[in-house]
Amino acid sequence: MKTINIFKKKHRPIVMTTAYDYVSAKVSELAGIDALLVGDSLGMVIGGNDTTLKVTIEQMILHTQYAANGAKDTFLISDMPFMTYKTTPKEAVKNGGLLIQKGGADAVKLEGGNEICRTIKKMVFADIPVMGHIGLTPQAILKFGRYKKIGKNEKEKKYLLDSAKKLQDAGAFAIVLESIPEQVAKEITESVSIPTIGIGAGKYTDGQILVWNDILGFYDKIKPRFAKRYKDLWNEAIDGLSKYKDEVKKRKFPSEKYL
Ligand code: KIV
Repeated sequence: MKTINIFKKKHRPIVMTTAYDYVSAKVSELAGIDALLVGDSLGMVIGGNDTTLKVTIEQMILHTQYAANGAKDTFLISDMPFMTYKTTPKEAVKNGGLLIQKGGADAVKLEGGNEICRTIKKMVFADIPVMGHIGLTPQAILKFGRYKKIGKNEKEKKYLLDSAKKLQDAGAFAIVLESIPEQVAKEITESVSIPTIGIGAGKYTDGQILVWNDILGFYDKIKPRFAKRYKDLWNEAIDGLSKYKDEVKKRKFPSEKYL
């Protein structure tokens, strides 16, 4: 049963992963994952790009539709891509609405702290459930220069703590904390009543999220230090495809059984 109630602190630890299509959503649902994110990380792990910046609203709608087909009973959040919400609040409401109406998402996520709260209030007023995302925000890679931990100095820590409270006040139902020192993530988690979902933020957050391809070892470009690999689908796939190739070359496939 789909319910936003999973995002109450009492349900912690909340387990999330990303999903980008029917298969990734369906197997995640069958594994009992609490909620799914159609992340704009799809530009990297599905599209092979080096950043998330080229992902468009049309791509997000399409992948959200595919994931929604596999996540019939699992709460599905869709990422708002670069240049679709920080431009104007009006654009944000329109694009957030599209992810729900056309994509079939149950909620949307957007990156940013204090500076995005006015927009979030307008989205929440329009009945769009919003998840926040602070710390390392990959859409700001051109500003950061590289993917790194955020919150290591007092200024950054103050910004994160302040932003978490303001996101809560603006109506966000949960906040992703990405690449934040464990103790800072703990302080943020203790300072808000909405749940925090960590990625590279240590063990004290109310939930955890990892990219589906990282959990399953199905991506070759970046291996984040914090992402534990529970399977090696990459090599499993190469192995299966090599066996198929060998059997066709040797005319062993298709055998009697497959006629
Ligand atoms: O796009 C994404 O996959 C994300 C998660 C890493 C939180 O934003």
